[in-house]
Amino acid sequence: MDSGKQLTGTLVLAVFTAVLGSLQYGYSLGVINAPQKVIERHYGRSLGVVPDDDLASNRIVLGNTTEPEEVHPSVVMYWSLSVAIFSVGGIFSSFLVGFVADFRGRIKGMLVVNVLAIAAGLLMGLAKMGKAHIMVLSGRAVMGFYCGLSSGLVPMYVGEISPVAYRGALGTLHQLAIVTGILLSQVIGLDFLLGNDDYWPLLLGLSGAPAILQTLLLPLCPESPRYLYIKQGKEQEACKSLKRFKGEYDTSKDIAEMKAEKDELMKERPVTILGLLRSSAHRQQLFVALMMHLSQQFSGINAIFYYSTAIFYKAGVTQPVYATIGVGVINLVFTMVSVAMVDRAGRRTLTLIGLAGMCLCAIAMTVGLVYLHTYSWMSIVSMAAIFLFVSFFEIGPGPIPWFIVAELFSQGPRPAAIALAGCCNWTSNFIVGMFFPYVEVLLGNYVFILFAGFLSIFTLFTYFRVPETKGKTFEEIAAVFQRKRKGSPAGASVTTELEQLKSSAEA
Ligand code: GLC
Repeated sequence: MDSGKQLTGTLVLAVFTAVLGSLQYGYSLGVINAPQKVIERHYGRSLGVVPDDDLASNRIVLGNTTEPEEVHPSVVMYWSLSVAIFSVGGIFSSFLVGFVADFRGRIKGMLVVNVLAIAAGLLMGLAKMGKAHIMVLSGRAVMGFYCGLSSGLVPMYVGEISPVAYRGALGTLHQLAIVTGILLSQVIGLDFLLGNDDYWPLLLGLSGAPAILQTLLLPLCPESPRYLYIKQGKEQEACKSLKRFKGEYDTSKDIAEMKAEKDELMKERPVTILGLLRSSAHRQQLFVALMMHLSQQFSGINAIFYYSTAIFYKAGVTQPVYATIGVGVINLVFTMVSVAMVDRAGRRTLTLIGLAGMCLCAIAMTVGLVYLHTYSWMSIVSMAAIFLFVSFFEIGPGPIPWFIVAELFSQGPRPAAIALAGCCNWTSNFIVGMFFPYVEVLLGNYVFILFAGFLSIFTLFTYFRVPETKGKTFEEIAAVFQRKRKGSPAGASVTTELEQLKSSAEA
């Protein structure tokens, strides 16, 4: 969609409104980090394992503490469950993204699922009125379910409404909103703000607030023209929607482009999740999409986000909570760098630089931690390595997987592909979050070597397999894979494949 105005007020409003869902996702990811001790205390009370007078005294009500403290095993269990159930909710709901997106459209889909976010916010916000551990646990599960849906619906809608030239930058706004949400939750989770005994339910409950604003704004946003034309066959409405996005202009070129995609689609049967898994026609794209999501999560980024305070503490930092907020700020700044660069430098280049840089940082982090007690300046090395690790992540491996799936697939298999990629992302996120503490016990200071190993594999994969999608229409991208499939039957030399990919990257 290249004619007409490129960045109109309506487009900006629609993208802003959609990414409020991503803000919510980021907030929910980050919010449970700081107030852990305070909430555990309330769990103890509602489970009947901590006397009420302990709560009344100031001795144990402050959050953000790093002092080791005895915690009752059932409290530990309920707390770990509250953290992990969020991803479990996402794993299940990501399968439903295609259904929700195609049922009544992208806008109505995002609108309806907000009921879940508001319900989850209320459950957590009113936690003190019931059994705290049950209320928070159910709130987190429902919120995870909501986020699994929104982390698929948002990139799909944004990808479909963006002009080709800005698709990368606008797609990266999903990640920008996620990192803004993480930072916001880290700051208002400080103990002198909301991360304390009085306000922690409000802190958790606020995660539902963006859904209220989004519900008010969504009716003002036009439906995706691709959905209207390709899925619904409503040409008039698609034209109207195109004009709302781009102003008065001749829509025939855009309609012709969508018609070509629709004609292609008519040749295939509807692609279900199972069908996509079986389809040899889409195997290459699917492999690339899933590997990119695996590389996002198995880069170890959430080992930093979930456990940064503890890692900084180990690296000898005296105020680890503020260092964690520093990570949040760096995270935000480098996502902005990515927004500015992604449509010029390209997805493939930024992913390669990001993954290779993270790999070197993981090695530096290990050296820093291992020699911490031999040379005092090694704490600076570990700190710098953590900050750079996060920066490299946000340049490419963080934002790109989220929107590249919508680019790699045409309208037919797109919802199923986004569902599968989302499920892969949430499952690996869960695995890292759940098992990192155990692996850390096993490998000690060498734990990040494991991620360095993964990162080197993902870097090689990206170099050999990921084509450039910058500046191409959905049709052109599909053609790259088609050429690749036809031109390189099983057994074709890697060099031929590489040349094809390189020429497509340079085109
Ligand atoms: C990406 C990841 C998410 C991670 C975040 C950090 O959005 O999907 O798991 O926490 O980046 O910025």
